Amino acid sequence: MQILVVGGGGREHALIWKIAQSPLVKKIFCAPGNAGTTEQAENISIPADDINALLEFALKNKIDLTVVGPEQALVLGIVDLFESKGLRIFGPSKVAAELEGSKAFSKNLMRKYGLPTADYEVFDALEPALAYVDKKSGPQVVKADGLAAGKGVILCDSPEEAREAIKNMMQDKSFGAAGERIVVEEYLVGEEISVLAFADGKNVLALDSAQDHKAAYDGDRGPNTGGMGAYSPAPLLTPALKDQVLREILQPAVDAMAKEDRTFRGILYAGLMLTEKGPKTLEFNVRWGDPETQPLLTRLKTDLIELMNASIDGTLDKITAEWKKETAVCVVMAAKGYPEAYEKGKIISGIDSAEQGDGVKVFHAGTKPDGGKVLTNGGRVLGVTALGADRDSAIKNAYKAVDKISWDGIHYRKDIGQRPSS
Ligand code: AMP
Ligand code: GLY
Repeated sequence: MQILVVGGGGREHALIWKIAQSPLVKKIFCAPGNAGTTEQAENISIPADDINALLEFALKNKIDLTVVGPEQALVLGIVDLFESKGLRIFGPSKVAAELEGSKAFSKNLMRKYGLPTADYEVFDALEPALAYVDKKSGPQVVKADGLAAGKGVILCDSPEEAREAIKNMMQDKSFGAAGERIVVEEYLVGEEISVLAFADGKNVLALDSAQDHKAAYDGDRGPNTGGMGAYSPAPLLTPALKDQVLREILQPAVDAMAKEDRTFRGILYAGLMLTEKGPKTLEFNVRWGDPETQPLLTRLKTDLIELMNASIDGTLDKITAEWKKETAVCVVMAAKGYPEAYEKGKIISGIDSAEQGDGVKVFHAGTKPDGGKVLTNGGRVLGVTALGADRDSAIKNAYKAVDKISWDGIHYRKDIGQRPSS
């Protein structure tokens, strides 16, 4: 098979690394890729959201299966476009991707079908939104409806802060069109966990557990990022809790989408808050998480191509996913300043020597090749991932590898894999 992977982050490098292990695969392309994806794939300089150019490439190069990383391409309808030309592609259609593309759609679906989530209201105009928060006391969460690169959620301690956030989105348009409609919701308290599952429109096959660390600094302090590291399995997700999440959230979501004529195929990612009243859904994503994918795929024993084929063909009930018993920990090495402004173009050294460590794989994110060198080219630069017999040894192996890597201006968390409650 010839495979095209769309995207250029750590998640896509991990997908390629895993796909390359399948005996079914002959050649992999990556658009646009990074310095790491060139190990197993040929990089193509097409941006991940240029879905027409991607289609042209896939038709010309007889691509047998396309795997999409980032949400933009899905929300733009890459799956519909490819399928209309008879091409096979893994991921949800445009109307199904709205589950991530519109928070109002996702919340309304949850309400209509009784899925546990925070109380909320949707607003299209400034005044009613301000009047609503004025009547509230205590913390509220204000969310831009559309895609905002993970930045469209403002946690507000008071109605005054909520007013500011609403004005910022709806009046000053700081998130552009994404903030023309907003969701104001109840502030939930608890531990966060991600549960990812394959869906085929009907059946749901949960992946093993993973937890990411969203805050920029140690001890979960500082601004939220795309994710500063992740580990799998996450002991917080006990088998009983996983069953509950499948029963109360993931399966009902897939059933609801089918009823709404928005058949969901691909990866369904539920971001959950484990509250005193049980798990509640903070958001759905319609794609692999980044960096959760790095430790998850490091532990997956089953052929990923077979799992994706089952999702496309509606046969997930006939396949199981096997996982290594070891723990995998992924430490994101970022450019200093991330998630705010940061510099690019720094020379990275030590990757080869880091990869000689026990069970270590360095997944590239924001990197680019430059002659024989590798340069930084983004906020999240590398995802240093290591296996270990247990969590402590995986953490030790990962940080031993991290210590061997350097460039001018590194930032990473020192506490990945450790959570107060797990
Ligand atoms: P989202 O993109 O909706 O998952 O929100 C991003 C982050 O904001 C989540 O990972 C949570 O840390 C936080 N968050 C979102 N919604 C809530 C909520 N209702 N209560 C508390 N925290 C929230
Ligand atoms: N790590 C969070 C996400 O992929 O959205």
